[in-house]
Amino acid sequence: MYSVALDGPAGAGKSTLAKAVAQKLGIIHVDTGAMYRAIGVYALRQGKNTADAAQVVPLLPEIQISLRFGPQGQQIFLNGEDVSQAIREPEASMAASNVSAIPQVRTFLLEQQRDLARHNSVIMDGRDIGTVVLPEATVKIFLTATPEARARRRWKELQEKGHDVLWEKVLEEVKLRDYNDSHRAAAPLRQAADAVLADTTALDFQQSLELLLSIIKDRTRT
Ligand code: DC
Repeated sequence: MYSVALDGPAGAGKSTLAKAVAQKLGIIHVDTGAMYRAIGVYALRQGKNTADAAQVVPLLPEIQISLRFGPQGQQIFLNGEDVSQAIREPEASMAASNVSAIPQVRTFLLEQQRDLARHNSVIMDGRDIGTVVLPEATVKIFLTATPEARARRRWKELQEKGHDVLWEKVLEEVKLRDYNDSHRAAAPLRQAADAVLADTTALDFQQSLELLLSIIKDRTRT
């Protein structure tokens, strides 16, 4: 068994690439961002201010998150309801960023995340996988790209889903989330000392995938 920790800022392509890597290597892809998104969605549905820990923390005992891994990748259930689509709505992004800054929320998810890597070969993507969740990961990769390149990809994705938003607004949100994710006190986004840096600014999907596979192969001899 082995584990790949894949961290980096929003929009670097972590999820899409991790999914493809998992398929190629026959391991599971754990998208930890989806877990924060599910908590964000729950808090929004309860009409809470997701930036206010005092409103979010009391909700945690009511929340049960489970993941299922199939040929389509990861499905996520919030108290038994499949929220795999709902967590991709634009308002879920900022809600996730907000709740992820709350230490109790991070602790709430930590053991569940570690447990998945204890029982399966995984590629786990997030912000703190190499630094906090799986400090002993077999391979650590920090995936990045310029904010402009990441905003462009995100904008295209939103357009394809029928969300007509301004590119400038997407860029602004990417930068704001970068700031939030890397300046929070609890497990901020940062590259682990022993992580390999992979910059995909000038790479297309296929090239990025090959880069990741070669890094993983180097370190696992799979
Ligand atoms: O990767 P994503 O956009 O789905 O993540 C949603 C938010 O959750 C993002 O703002 C950062 C946060 N997050 C985190 O703090 N730690 C993780 N391991 C994964 C995501």
